[in-house]
Amino acid sequence: MPDQQKFQSSVLSPHNSLLITGGAGFIGANFVHYWVKKYPQDKVVVLDALTYAGNKANLTGLENHPGFHFVHGDIRDYDLALSLLQENQIDTIVHFAAESHVDRSIHGPDAFVDTNIMGTHTLLKAAKTTWLDKSSSALSPQSSPFRFHHISTDEVYGSLGPDDPGFSETTAYAPNSPYASSKAGSDFLVRAYYKTYGLPMTISNCSNNYGPYQHPEKLIPLLILNCLEGKPLPIYGDGLNIRDWLYVEDHCRGIDLILKKGRIGETYNIGGNCEKTNLEVVHAVCAILDELQPLSSQSSVHSPQTSSFNSYSSLITHIKDRPGHDRRYAIDATKITGELVYAPVESFESGMRKTVGWYLENLEWCKTVMGENYQEWIEQNYS
Ligand code: NAD
Ligand code: DAU
Repeated sequence: MPDQQKFQSSVLSPHNSLLITGGAGFIGANFVHYWVKKYPQDKVVVLDALTYAGNKANLTGLENHPGFHFVHGDIRDYDLALSLLQENQIDTIVHFAAESHVDRSIHGPDAFVDTNIMGTHTLLKAAKTTWLDKSSSALSPQSSPFRFHHISTDEVYGSLGPDDPGFSETTAYAPNSPYASSKAGSDFLVRAYYKTYGLPMTISNCSNNYGPYQHPEKLIPLLILNCLEGKPLPIYGDGLNIRDWLYVEDHCRGIDLILKKGRIGETYNIGGNCEKTNLEVVHAVCAILDELQPLSSQSSVHSPQTSSFNSYSSLITHIKDRPGHDRRYAIDATKITGELVYAPVESFESGMRKTVGWYLENLEWCKTVMGENYQEWIEQNYS
């Protein structure tokens, strides 16, 4: 294939109509804000089931935007997906909706299979019916005006040894948790719909995100909130597991590039080139809070563990390890860096500072998202 043709992308038309699934969750909401600001002329339909992880408050400020429309519904509802695609003349699906928390997948894997595999398959069927079966034009996937972009994770590749190179797009899949396996299953279905039916798709596999609107069940917000409440900072095992951290807006920029310039049928890995042990992360959070919210000024912190110390790091508590805990993730982002000229904007230091600052300013939001359902789940699983 000549290079020019090989690198030809299906550049989206000037004004697009997007269906964003899971747009009320952490990354989805950040992506919706990013997209509406950058492409205000586009139509953006969010489909979200508002599980414990989804929150309409994450989309505050968009209510009056003319192109924005929120639909409370489930990606497993085929008729709903079909009618949304057809009535809104959707040309682009950005599929974030998923059960996303590894710990939950260990305690209750069924929801992960249902949403991540069955839900993705339902959406693929609706896209195939609308874009391929009912379309009068027989365009090749490469010149199609449509796109199904699937958001996946680096966890599908399994765990790295200390000296292994980072995950590339050709690394073999070896998922270890029910969550990672369900994401791997969904990736394979997306690939199969391209290879078998010609559905125009792209996939991105990203490393650990952090930033505004992340649910406090995940490591970084959990650490921030536990510090503020003087609670122990639970670190699984020896705390030397490594993750490759990326500020969420940098993930959104990567997805944007793939939608605009990525090649159909391709997978792109997105990472922060920012490997940190969990202990490095917890110390970074504590150092920022020690500076912004020193313990002496924190009247809500009454823990005996903090009374004789002057750093939040005194709250670090090693607890039982997560079963099957992957030791190390790292992304080799050569493909997206070279082909689409991608580079993260935030450093770990600047991104963490923004993130801690956001949580300090949004404590009411935290209380809302950790409502009754969440407390019930914690009591059932952790007490
Ligand atoms: P999240 O748990 O914060 O949000 C998931 C959203 O999906 C929620 O709004 C929830 O209500 C919605 N949802 C769940 N089931 C649904 C269903 N059946 N129908 C419709 N909506 C449903 O997740 P996140 O961290 O924002 O992750 C988003 C996507 O990115 C996921 O596919 C995840 O696998 C992937 N990902 C996440 C990370 C990360 O670090 N968080 C990294 C790489 C990839
Ligand atoms: O790598 C991408 C993945 O990152 C995404 O696909 C997942 O959706 C997302 O949840 C995230 O998975 P992790 O399991 O890496 O994220 P989590 O925040 O749950 O944990 C990060 C690390 O911190 C991990 O090594 C487990 C550890 N941890 C986590 C929690 C919640 C602790 O030590 N203590 C904790 O209380």
